[in-house]
Amino acid sequence: MGKDDFSESMLDMLDPQYKDYPVYTTSSGCPVHNPHASQRVGPNGPLLLQDVHLIDLLSHFDRERIPERVVHAKGAGAYGEFEVTHDIADLTSAQFLLGIGKKTRCLTRFSTVGGEKGSADSARDPRGFAVKFYTEEGNQDWVFNNTPIFFLRDPAKFPSFIHTQKRHPQTNLKDATMFWDYLAQNQESIHQLMHLFSDRGTPYSYRHMHGYSGHTYKFTKPDGSYTYIQIHLKTNQGIKTLTSSQAESLASSNPDHATQDLFSSIASGDFPSWTVYIQTMTPQQAASFPYSIFDLTKVWPQAEFPLRPIGKLTLNQNPTNYFSEIEQAAFSPSHLVPGIEPSADPVLQSRLFSYPDTHRYRLGVNYHSIPANCPLHSFNPIHRDGSFAGVAPLHTHAHQNYHSEPNYPSSFRPISYPPKEKVNPEAEFWEGKATPFVWELTNADFVQARDLWRVLGRQDGQQGNFVANVSGHLCAAKEGVRRKVYAMFGRVDGELGKWIEEKTEERVRKDKGVEVAKL
Ligand code: HEM
Repeated sequence: MGKDDFSESMLDMLDPQYKDYPVYTTSSGCPVHNPHASQRVGPNGPLLLQDVHLIDLLSHFDRERIPERVVHAKGAGAYGEFEVTHDIADLTSAQFLLGIGKKTRCLTRFSTVGGEKGSADSARDPRGFAVKFYTEEGNQDWVFNNTPIFFLRDPAKFPSFIHTQKRHPQTNLKDATMFWDYLAQNQESIHQLMHLFSDRGTPYSYRHMHGYSGHTYKFTKPDGSYTYIQIHLKTNQGIKTLTSSQAESLASSNPDHATQDLFSSIASGDFPSWTVYIQTMTPQQAASFPYSIFDLTKVWPQAEFPLRPIGKLTLNQNPTNYFSEIEQAAFSPSHLVPGIEPSADPVLQSRLFSYPDTHRYRLGVNYHSIPANCPLHSFNPIHRDGSFAGVAPLHTHAHQNYHSEPNYPSSFRPISYPPKEKVNPEAEFWEGKATPFVWELTNADFVQARDLWRVLGRQDGQQGNFVANVSGHLCAAKEGVRRKVYAMFGRVDGELGKWIEEKTEERVRKDKGVEVAKL
């Protein structure tokens, strides 16, 4: 088809016989005769500023990208439902968790952490597992990972940590020296590192991994009683992982493998699901637990704190528009319904600030009004105005910037307030000096990492894969840093430290050989 034929076919679109088709317009709604014909002075002359259609088109295109998430930029998502399978009225007043058979609509987004929006799904990286529950008491978000622990326990380390896992400021390359230098200086990461460099660090797909709150949260009741909890989502598809070489090969053959796997399985009616469990701990048990329950680098042993099933999450609907529903989704640990509260875990406390803050930057001050984020049932804050005020869905008060409703708690339009015990039961009591707190590293920080090393020993070939995965990455770091890392793994297990050293130095010698041969 020639250029002229093409424009003829576009002209045909405006023919009266197509009158039932939507008419193409500018963004101000005015009809346009031919979208692919810019106005020019004569057939070969320059363009005209008066071509408002072209200006409209290009200026909108120029603004199509919003900032990607500073972490967890690459992801995939879907809708689903959460069903209560076991009543936990003894622990919480959160309505969506009460009553066997009760169902709540959800939006889920899975992600990798360090890579950019176009990076490979199979990267060795923790995976994000975020769920938004559109409950009758507002939105409840679980912003979890696929590992039960994290790299740090003081939030002030987070920006530095993330910088070292991303690109070097000068070369703009991923940098093994920087990566390991941080970890060798902040060895409370060791437990998370053991997960990351096992084959669980490269899940086969988002469907084949668990999700964990990692943090301790609290379930509360109006009588002021509370229980510490950890939440686990266990995949019903079974755990499936990639070896390093499978992950590397997928990164080049199909970098969007996990995204495609999720979309295709839901599109074909094969709906992935997770069984949801909690671990519970009373304040008395917490007082005698050997670790702080606000230390995000530690797990609660399941033998002592058994998993108690509470429900099932099933994903059954793909988004119709990725950008609108998934890219613009704003998950935050601060989205909490009555009956669920944050614990004093300092990393969790800082996340309560960081997520809404980044959403205001990434999506704008009225990000709650974007349909993916808008509560389905209750939405009645005092916020007014700001960019894109009024875009909230029709069913909410916020639509049209709350019309003529008062913009303060007015006696002319009374607002109802739930009882204090229901939404803010008084539970914990804290008192102490305001002080910069250094959470010192001790030998106890290596105990759970050592346990995990032993668990790998009971799984065929997993210790060998772990050592190969570490040495394959560490061999690119500078020698001084490598030495510190051998000593760090030596604190987990003397033999492990030696094994990693032997394999890494072997790789270094081999790689040097290749470089010399190239010269
Ligand atoms: C995403 C900050 C620790 C899970 C994000 C984002 C920020 C952030 C700024 C981007 C959010 C967005 O643009 O919408 C932090 C800080 C942390 C921290 C400051 C510690 C001080 C954690 C931990 C977990 C976690 C411990 C898991 C237990 C996630 C997930 C996402 C995310 C799943 C992606 C959410 C989505 O799919 O939109 N984090 N994070 N983060 N974070 Fe964290």
